[in-house]
Amino acid sequence: MDSTAVARSHWSSRWAFVLVTAGSAIGLGNIWKFPYMTGTNGGSAFVLVYLLCIAFIGVPLLMAETMLGRRGQANPVGSMRRVVAEAGAHPGWIAIGFIGILGALMILSFYSVVAGWILDYAMRSFSGFAGLTKAEAGAAFAALLADPLRLIGWHTVFMILTALVVASGVTSGIERANKIMMPALFAIIVALIVYGIVAADMAAAVRFMFHFDFGAVRREVVLSAMGHAFFTLSLGMGAIMAYGSYLDRGTSIMRTAFYVALADTGIALMAGLAIFAIVFAQGLEPASGPGLILQTLPLAFAQMPGGAVVGPLFFILVIFAAWTSSISLMEPFAAFLIERFGLSRRAAVGGMGLVAWLLGIAVALSFNEWSGFKILGLGIFDLLDTLTTKIMMPLAGLLIALFVGWVMRRHHVAEEMGLSGAQLGIWLNVLRFGSPLAIGLIFLHVVGVIG
Ligand code: PHE
Repeated sequence: MDSTAVARSHWSSRWAFVLVTAGSAIGLGNIWKFPYMTGTNGGSAFVLVYLLCIAFIGVPLLMAETMLGRRGQANPVGSMRRVVAEAGAHPGWIAIGFIGILGALMILSFYSVVAGWILDYAMRSFSGFAGLTKAEAGAAFAALLADPLRLIGWHTVFMILTALVVASGVTSGIERANKIMMPALFAIIVALIVYGIVAADMAAAVRFMFHFDFGAVRREVVLSAMGHAFFTLSLGMGAIMAYGSYLDRGTSIMRTAFYVALADTGIALMAGLAIFAIVFAQGLEPASGPGLILQTLPLAFAQMPGGAVVGPLFFILVIFAAWTSSISLMEPFAAFLIERFGLSRRAAVGGMGLVAWLLGIAVALSFNEWSGFKILGLGIFDLLDTLTTKIMMPLAGLLIALFVGWVMRRHHVAEEMGLSGAQLGIWLNVLRFGSPLAIGLIFLHVVGVIG
């Protein structure tokens, strides 16, 4: 295993790491999931808990997971194996790595189907949405969901796109794509915000998202918001650990984690504002669910000046954002297969991609042919989303916090983080007490054990 550590490719600079980690974090979670979840969870209550979770659970864990990857210098399972050995800890802790790679595989399967929706809309946007009405926008989305072949076709295209980059190796493939696309995405979201201010109801959007009312925070909202904080920062799924393993020593993990979280949260909030400005201006339903952005944005593109150009550009950039995230979902399991079983990169990617693709077909069918098929009252799409976001991610996060806070040797942690004194102390105490307590309480609260 040591030979792989020596031969391990690394990012070309610290900024490259910030960029690719932001590329993993910023994706459908920000542009598709955050707005619709904010809508279904009542707006500001969700946003508030989400922001608190990002700041107090997300950022400390982002630092911890990056650190584990850099210390371990391997795929998530290999990295955990090494840091667990170094700490002289019980091998059971290696489970953190397995939860991660398995969860990433599960997320990839539905992520690819949703990215397929965006591909479908990107294609449609080229012929423009001119004259589109509210009813037609809703019907178009429903028609897409009802068409298994179209869903599976686009899902297949997206999975192949993802596999192609991962097969060509992370540092060369991933870095290049990110450098141009992320800034471009930012620019176009700014443009949508401007449109929201000028032509839609930005005031209503701001009220909906930021008029904080603690009384409105319901049980399920808290878990949804915490789960989403994990999802949007790519936490607990081995992605950050895998990327951390390609990070050079000597880069400040604290600073990079801060930049990544800032960029990620900024994009999500901006996307939310842009979408809800249109939702309220058009009299649409904020709680309409996963189709929210696809039912609102085409209407805006139909009406705004230059919409025929802005529309396709937007959808293409969202595809790139999703692509850079899905790459980070495929990499951890692939790296595990390569390093553990000596598979070639191609074979590993092929195998992992095939399994995720098959699972994705089940997801696609859960919107139509198999819509009656439920496990625990949930369809396959909801089930995979719930299992990963609300259970596996917080659980992995909890274990990471406990492991780094209590089990790892303090001087190893300090050395790897390049931190000392108060900074180290505060962060470690958050991991020891803050994060586990918060995650634990939210779990207990939702299960109903505590009020
Ligand atoms: N953070 C990504 C997004 O917001 C999704 C993701 C989750 C990526 C977990 C990697 C690991 O779209």
